[in-house]
Amino acid sequence: MQTASILDRVAGLGSDKWRVHVRARQLMAQGEAVILLTIGEPDRPTPPELIEATARALRAGRTGYSNGRGEGVVLRALAAKYTARSGRAVGTDQFIWVPGTQSALFLLLMALVEAGDEVLLADPCYATYHGLVQATGARAVPVALRPARGFRLAADDLARAVTPRTRLVFLNSPHNPTGAVLTRDDVRAIGEVARAHDLWILSDEVYESLVFDNGDGSRFASPFDEAELAERTVVASSLSKSHAAPGFRAGWCAGPPGFISRLLPLAETMLFGAQPFIADMAAQALSHEFAITAQMRDNYAARARLVAQALAGVPGLQVHAPQAGMFVMLSVGDLGLDGEAFALRLLDEERVAVMPGAAFGPTAAGMLRLSLTVPDEALAEGCRRIAALARRLGSGWQAAKPAR
Ligand SMILES: Cc1ncc(COP(=O)(O)O)c(C=O)c1O
Repeated sequence: MQTASILDRVAGLGSDKWRVHVRARQLMAQGEAVILLTIGEPDRPTPPELIEATARALRAGRTGYSNGRGEGVVLRALAAKYTARSGRAVGTDQFIWVPGTQSALFLLLMALVEAGDEVLLADPCYATYHGLVQATGARAVPVALRPARGFRLAADDLARAVTPRTRLVFLNSPHNPTGAVLTRDDVRAIGEVARAHDLWILSDEVYESLVFDNGDGSRFASPFDEAELAERTVVASSLSKSHAAPGFRAGWCAGPPGFISRLLPLAETMLFGAQPFIADMAAQALSHEFAITAQMRDNYAARARLVAQALAGVPGLQVHAPQAGMFVMLSVGDLGLDGEAFALRLLDEERVAVMPGAAFGPTAAGMLRLSLTVPDEALAEGCRRIAALARRLGSGWQAAKPAR
């Protein structure tokens, strides 16, 4: 029997990228101790108030069907959040409540692009993005992020990649995997390119709350908050990272009212609503400050510094300090092997699991991504082992170099 071409288009773009992680998990299941620096799962429990809010809603019988757009209580909380953030009146008709950023991205891309279209996508980018674009039938056009620019996507580079088929610019700031944060000027310049070519901007803002207080003035900036870009900007986000609640699958799409009302039937076709008891918990999360958000952000910032210090001066390694998020990128290419080969050896010889940069795009093939979501001692030990492997490789590499 035949299947639809979408399955061929996404083949190999799902969990295959997590090979090192899967192998690490297998080793752990066999009783081996592995330091897992692969995935970005917050290492703190969801705040007890949010667990209690969910339990209260469950006990109160909030277990029936919702409606396609989402529960009023959470839509109002979102409208208040984005009104405060943008300084514009943002209405409840600008949101659809969905299970997590990932499904928001899927829904938005399905609604905005199709076969024959091109999507401008940073290289490297979050591991699911290629699958998302491929699923629609559109083509992802990579725009390389330059380390010299702190991996911040440059409007000039985007402009050079535009063709008559370009429909959408796919942004992610703060950025996974590099931790780069677009400045307001960056966003405005990118917006100019989008306006000049009449493009949509899709902004994945799942790390909005995790911009480090580095004293370098880094601040979150979004095209949604720029009045002149609002009509062409759609946002995907969630509580997964901000409230240590990835398993709740609590997320949303935001955009201009006219577009969002046209998106609604597609969302209904796919989901027909999410869980009312999760919406109640999310409304509470969105309308109060939770100390855990700043604590996680400061933890990740401190751990990023720990990695930089631990690996400073190790020949062949270069740490790229992030401005936000829960990851650090590390260049290993000078050691004569790519990130994937390094990651496999690191797991086999040192029992440390990291993500090979190639999982995020070819320009990161000489890099590794380290997650900062493990306790400091484990991270420090992981760095010692990375340094040990780098030193072994470095001495072999030096010895093998032809004498000049
Ligand atoms: C950039 C980015 N977008 C989306 C997601 C998925 O978020 P959610 O749990 O809200 O689906 C992640 C998770 O790691 C991510 O890093």
